[in-house]
Amino acid sequence: INGVELVAGADVSEKALKSFAEQFGVKQTFTDYKKMLRLKDLDAVSVCTPNYMHKAPTVAALRAGKHVMVEKPMAMNAREAQAMVDAAKEAKRKLVIGFQYRFSPEAQAVKRYVDDGQIGRPLFARVQTLRRRGIPSWGVFGRKDLQGGGPLIDLGVHYIEVALYLMGSPSAVSASGSAYTYIGNKPSKTLCSWGHWDHKSYTVEDLAVGFVRLDNGACMTVESSFAAHIEKDDFNLQIMGEKGGFTLHPPAIYKDEAGLMVNV
Ligand SMILES: NC(=O)c1ccc[n+]([C@@H]2O[C@H](COP(=O)([O-])OP(=O)(O)OC[C@H]3O[C@@H](n4cnc5c(N)ncnc54)[C@H](O)[C@@H]3O)[C@@H](O)[C@H]2O)c1
Repeated sequence: INGVELVAGADVSEKALKSFAEQFGVKQTFTDYKKMLRLKDLDAVSVCTPNYMHKAPTVAALRAGKHVMVEKPMAMNAREAQAMVDAAKEAKRKLVIGFQYRFSPEAQAVKRYVDDGQIGRPLFARVQTLRRRGIPSWGVFGRKDLQGGGPLIDLGVHYIEVALYLMGSPSAVSASGSAYTYIGNKPSKTLCSWGHWDHKSYTVEDLAVGFVRLDNGACMTVESSFAAHIEKDDFNLQIMGEKGGFTLHPPAIYKDEAGLMVNV
């Protein structure tokens, strides 16, 4: 990134730290992030620890006077997230979540139409981050105690964030939903490209669905899965507005023009 100098890195794993330092030419490394936060020439910190370790380093970095970009999902739960926001306000530092999809060419193309008023008032957003059989066989994706949740918190958050961004950042006024675990927690003979995961430690949902009412009068449905009986994986966002609508993949606008239904 232009204008950014990577000055230090911290990781509890010396192996990870060594490879990070070599890859990015970083000279100062720490196995205790609190020591790294004492560096005076550090303006901002990227917190990219596992989900259960987002809150502590984020709050510590903010209190040390650093701006923070913390990876998604922001936290394990709303309580942790609120504590992080409070710490940022108290320290008067910026806290941003690592949601990069809003910067994608697709989202930015659609945003131009939204900002130009061509979609009109948004009415309904449909968020889909669906894998037919995509339970990761690596990492701790199936561990609710370490991840905070399954596909909704890992995949769904990205598209929920883009949906809210493209609707002008409304707030949720109510939400309801259901989560189901029916494949990941059992042994399976079904062939899948990522091989088999540890079903014994699998405590997250396979499928989450939800309905959210927003304070701009619109509503949003969310469907997110690591495993579901569907034809194929489906990652998409569709928004229907009063004057037009769009999908993200492919980026397409649907509206009425010159007496015709037009797709752009
Ligand atoms: N924005 C995205 O698209 C995106 C993509 C991938 C991962 N992520 C997020 O990034 C985060 C990390 O994911 P990952 O796949 O790189 O995980 P990972 O397990 O591969 O890496 C995490 C690193 O954090 C280190 N670590 C653990 N505890 C620590 C501590 N107390 N202090 C310092 N270092 C510690 C580990 O040793 C490891 O090197 C997750 O929150 C994940 O959701 C975001």
